[in-house]
Amino acid sequence: MTTRRVLTVAVFGLAWAAAMGLRLEAQTSARWTIPVEAANEKNTLPSDDATLKAGRALYEKHCVNCHGKEGKGDGPDADKRYAADMDLTAAARAARNPDGTVFYKIWNGRLNPKMPAFSDKMSKNEVWQLITYLTSIRQKPRG
Ligand code: HEC
Repeated sequence: MTTRRVLTVAVFGLAWAAAMGLRLEAQTSARWTIPVEAANEKNTLPSDDATLKAGRALYEKHCVNCHGKEGKGDGPDADKRYAADMDLTAAARAARNPDGTVFYKIWNGRLNPKMPAFSDKMSKNEVWQLITYLTSIRQKPRG
């Protein structure tokens, strides 16, 4: 390789690393960053008794300590400063939390405020069961 080539490769490498750094930064800033293709994913499970029951059990196992018995964001491990952001029942939050977005949040978690990632604790199907349950406890939008 010529020196020029090596330099070009190095410059691209650095630019890539910087871009990845920015992505990481985005995860820790005020908002979640959800890739468009992830947000567009749809829950295809039926909202039947078996799915809701499985979803509720997963919720009680993995989420209740932070998000609270009724999903209001008031569990014993909840960070009180973010109680409103942790309220999974709020109708006003439904519009910006379509199925795919909720899936992404559960699967990947976030660093600050801290929510663990669950990609190593649940299968994708289990996460969808959980989302079926979460959808059922959401208040209906007014109007
Ligand atoms: C260690 C505590 C903790 C646990 C355990 C936890 N979460 Fe969270 N969760 C949070 C925090 C903190 C936020 C708020 C982040 C923010 O500011 O947007 C959050 C936000 C969310 C949101 C986004 C709400 C919105 O309207 O933007 C969803 C959905 C969610 N959690 C689902 C779950 C589910 C489902 C589980 C169980 C599998 C779970 N969480 C487990 C702490 C937790």
